[in-house]
Amino acid sequence: MTDSAVIDIRPVAEEDLPAWTRAWGNGYLRPYAESSVDSIRSAAARDRLIGAFDRDRCVGTYRSSPQELTVPGGAVLPVSAISRVSVAGTHRRRGLLRRMVVTDLEEAFARGEPLAVLDAARYPLYGRFGFGPATAMAWFEIDVHRAGVDPLRTGDTSGVLLVDPREYLKAAPGVYERLRAVQPGALRRDEEWWQEATGQHVTGSASEGPEPFFALHLDPDTGEADGLLCFDAEETWEAMLPRSPLWVRDLIAVSPRAEAALLRYAVTVDWVTAVHLPYRAPDTLLPLWLGDPRAARISALSDYMWLRILDAPRSLSARTYGVDGSLVLEVADAAGYAAGTWLLEGGPDGASCVRTTRGPDLRIQVRDLASLYLGDDSATRLAVLGGTEEVRPGALARADAMFRTGRRPWSPRAVRGSRYQAGAP
Ligand SMILES: CC(C)(COP(=O)(O)OP(=O)(O)OC[C@H]1O[C@@H](n2cnc3c(N)ncnc32)[C@H](O)[C@@H]1OP(=O)(O)O)[C@@H](O)C(=O)NCCC(=O)NCCS
Repeated sequence: MTDSAVIDIRPVAEEDLPAWTRAWGNGYLRPYAESSVDSIRSAAARDRLIGAFDRDRCVGTYRSSPQELTVPGGAVLPVSAISRVSVAGTHRRRGLLRRMVVTDLEEAFARGEPLAVLDAARYPLYGRFGFGPATAMAWFEIDVHRAGVDPLRTGDTSGVLLVDPREYLKAAPGVYERLRAVQPGALRRDEEWWQEATGQHVTGSASEGPEPFFALHLDPDTGEADGLLCFDAEETWEAMLPRSPLWVRDLIAVSPRAEAALLRYAVTVDWVTAVHLPYRAPDTLLPLWLGDPRAARISALSDYMWLRILDAPRSLSARTYGVDGSLVLEVADAAGYAAGTWLLEGGPDGASCVRTTRGPDLRIQVRDLASLYLGDDSATRLAVLGGTEEVRPGALARADAMFRTGRRPWSPRAVRGSRYQAGAP
């Protein structure tokens, strides 16, 4: 066995791309495809690709991409989005993941990126690097027969238009941009993302699945698209009775009317008896657009996007807060990036955050600060678990009033191919 210290962690060169892609496929159980190499090659100009190399063999992969995250109040911060993290089964538990994460976070900090984000395949992996769960997701399954929605009331779906991928591609990115501007937790979707999601550009990383259907909702006053729906469905019969499942891959709406109409459309598609709605915010209103919201059962409830605060003053001063207030936070961060005592003064109109010599109101681990940051968790809850400590009485309640948001943050995720059906992170 090679000594881990001699395994080289380094940026990936053009000639390494096929081996790097194959190593990633091994880790993610995805068969190797030339098209994946092409896709990674085009991303390599913009993204940071790291590999772990045991002599000439690629045994670890790691990618981080420049992304943008919307925070409460609507500011958009540059973030480093981490993906494609894998270590070969032959080289696990020898610290290669640790070396790649540490290298990349150091570089992100040096570049001045205030935050890093990722979807964690395993809950226990990333807390040790200062990440905390910052958004959550609920997965709903709607029993159409119990939903209390009459398929003959076609007025309920007015404004919905079935379109082909090209028409969808013209309007859908604009709808998403309108949502992203106001949705804490949302990340940018670039043109390549839309090309892949609509099947206009196929890569090996988007595992195959049935061809999806596309719909838009048009605002009756302006004629502009204010909602999008992408789904696939499977024709299934049982003893002459239809029993088709429908999987929503993407449902984005910027008005309640659009959201209600698109959901009603999905649950009234003829032959469909179950509608699967993955990756929604746990407090989504979607079930409440049904006649009987109990027909939408939560089949999975999980942490979703994890966040790492690298620059505490920049991150904390970028968002707005629920009420006017000030808090002195003593942040513990073993890696040092966010460590220090910070005076946060903020409210609904903005905030400032500077280093201070004042005594702390709260002592908080950097991973707990990540869970508070977008408003998804409460300081009172985190204190029970021990990573947050109230030093000055009343500070937990003040932190909750300031950090929490009226609606939970949400990181909209669209599903491509069979990955959704497997429930992949
Ligand atoms: C998860 C994976 C990347 C770990 O790689 P690795 O090189 O074995 O990890 P390391 O040896 O650097 O371990 C770092 C720490 O994580 C812990 N760890 C590693 N794998 C773990 C797992 N599956 N569950 C819980 N903890 C784990 C280690 O014990 C170690 O803890 P320590 O630093 O406190 O000692 C690797 O097993 C893998 O490729 N899995 C399949 C793909 C995957 O899940 N990728 C993650 C995508 S987000």
